[in-house]
Amino acid sequence: MSFQNILFESKDRIAYLTLNRPDKLNALNWQTMQELQAALTSVKEDGNVGGVILTGAGSKAFAAGADIGELAQQTPVSAKEFSLNSQEILRFIERFPKPIIAAVNGFCLGGGSELALACHMRVASDKAKFGQPEVNLGIMCGNGGTQRLPRLIGKGRAIELLITGNMIDANEAYRLGWVNHVVAPEQLLPKCEEILQTVFKKGPVAVQLTLEAVIHGMEMTLEEGAQLESNLFGMLFSTEDMKEGTKAFLEKRQANFQGR
Ligand code: COA
Repeated sequence: MSFQNILFESKDRIAYLTLNRPDKLNALNWQTMQELQAALTSVKEDGNVGGVILTGAGSKAFAAGADIGELAQQTPVSAKEFSLNSQEILRFIERFPKPIIAAVNGFCLGGGSELALACHMRVASDKAKFGQPEVNLGIMCGNGGTQRLPRLIGKGRAIELLITGNMIDANEAYRLGWVNHVVAPEQLLPKCEEILQTVFKKGPVAVQLTLEAVIHGMEMTLEEGAQLESNLFGMLFSTEDMKEGTKAFLEKRQANFQGR
């Protein structure tokens, strides 16, 4: 599979997707979004891949937002369509059955931040900068930022960032809960790999259903979410992994999970 705006490779069960328009700070034009979806579709079907690291090419940016040149061409009708189509891709990412970590290596702004927010976790280099600067352009988030940011960091903090357009550094993003970890630039990929390699040792079906419970459950009432959790919990007792996991514990050995 060959792409123009992303790099895509797999190693040690991890798919590495790199936004690759460094001269434009990896701004997300429509083609890049479509390539991302196509690459992730193939990752979803690839049984040899257990998780994804999404990052940006170059040392300056994860992604500095939606491509402003493309945005400038939109009409009210096409802008709504553009937003709906992008939202669909981000839903695909959010509901992805394998963990996706955004490795944020630099500017993470606007649509770039919204993309990172749709990932399951965010790890930042201490050089990263975060912000939702849409209001500087006289527009607002169109890729879920007004919805996912408050759910992640709280309403008041999100509103301040969304309506001031202020940029914050990685440590402030960590303090707010926007990112899971902040590390030196050279530790960014190793930290993401360490997280995924830890996950890969666990029961794969349990990991997949846990993601499903959290992502879908967050959109439900507590009662509905708890019901979903009970259903998925019960389902796990039909897996060989559950039998192996409990047996291995009782036999005081490492579990050998098969993912079924
Ligand atoms: N869309 C399209 N092109 C973008 C872009 C975006 N979101 N962000 C940066 N670029 C392009 C610049 O136009 C420039 O291209 P050029 O060299 O062909 O002129 C190149 O990337 C480098 O950006 P530049 O502004 O020169 O870098 P900088 O270090 O001076 O500033 C930023 C970095 C991130 C502060 C600045 O690029 C910026 O504010 N970008 C827009 C951020 C934004 O508003 N995002 C939300 C969009 S909804």
